[in-house]
Amino acid sequence: MKPFCFADGTIVPTESATLHPMDLGLIRGYGIFDFFRTVNYTPLFLENYLDRFITSAEKTFLPLPYSRAQLSEIIHLLIEKNNLEKGGLRMVLSGGISENHFSPAAGKLFIFAESLSLPSEEKYREGIKLLTLEYVRPIADIKTTNYTLPVWHSVNWKRLGAEDVLYHWNGWVSESSRSNFFIVKNGVLHTPNQHILLGITRKHILDMVKNAVIRPISLEEVWDADEAFISSTTKVLLPVTQLDERKIGNGKPGPVTMEILERFRKLEKEIVA
Ligand SMILES: Cc1ncc(COP(=O)(O)O)c(C=O)c1O
Repeated sequence: MKPFCFADGTIVPTESATLHPMDLGLIRGYGIFDFFRTVNYTPLFLENYLDRFITSAEKTFLPLPYSRAQLSEIIHLLIEKNNLEKGGLRMVLSGGISENHFSPAAGKLFIFAESLSLPSEEKYREGIKLLTLEYVRPIADIKTTNYTLPVWHSVNWKRLGAEDVLYHWNGWVSESSRSNFFIVKNGVLHTPNQHILLGITRKHILDMVKNAVIRPISLEEVWDADEAFISSTTKVLLPVTQLDERKIGNGKPGPVTMEILERFRKLEKEIVA
């Protein structure tokens, strides 16, 4: 079945959705988005994603033409129209057409329904490799559409057998290109607090693990960690067993990581039951 999306006020076949080529989204890379999953036709943690999307719009000075209740209604209509038992929904608000081709304007809202595949079982079993990359995301707390550096760099990291990158700056780590980052040391979970997107998956992990420590984490500590993992909507959680050419811990997914993954999967099942 061909997907339907919400484009500029109506539900249309996704292939017919259009955006003006002079939109700031294209000519300046200015826009915001958010992405969440449906399981058993239920949009997981929808209120959290709406909170973040609405906040992103406010912080980027882009007027959002729909209320929270209207957005929720459109999302439920799209799930029904696309028979989206299991998949992803992407909300995008473009920067709009600006008179001076620069100042934020009134953008267009799109909501896309997408199929989605989680990473392979092998990646959960064996863990993944990250490459360190010196970078700080601009306005990191906002979910902007600016992924220029990692999209460009992905050609390189794939060539080197890595799954993704780990951003660091002045010796402090922050996050991966589309995920948050955690380490485990002596059984305790730690995650960075600076230059990050406040991930919804991260939030639910921190709600589950009561004694986690949220603080600046140095690259040195990552090399010395017992376990590490990344978290995101599309991966839930993936063990990181290698950073550049060095193993993390014993080079295998660790017990704390795998226990959190199990608990998260259980939580998900409870929500959609
Ligand atoms: C830069 C960045 N950090 C972290 C995350 C993880 O956030 P979430 O758990 O809400 O998917 C994402 C998700 O796309 C991201 O783009």
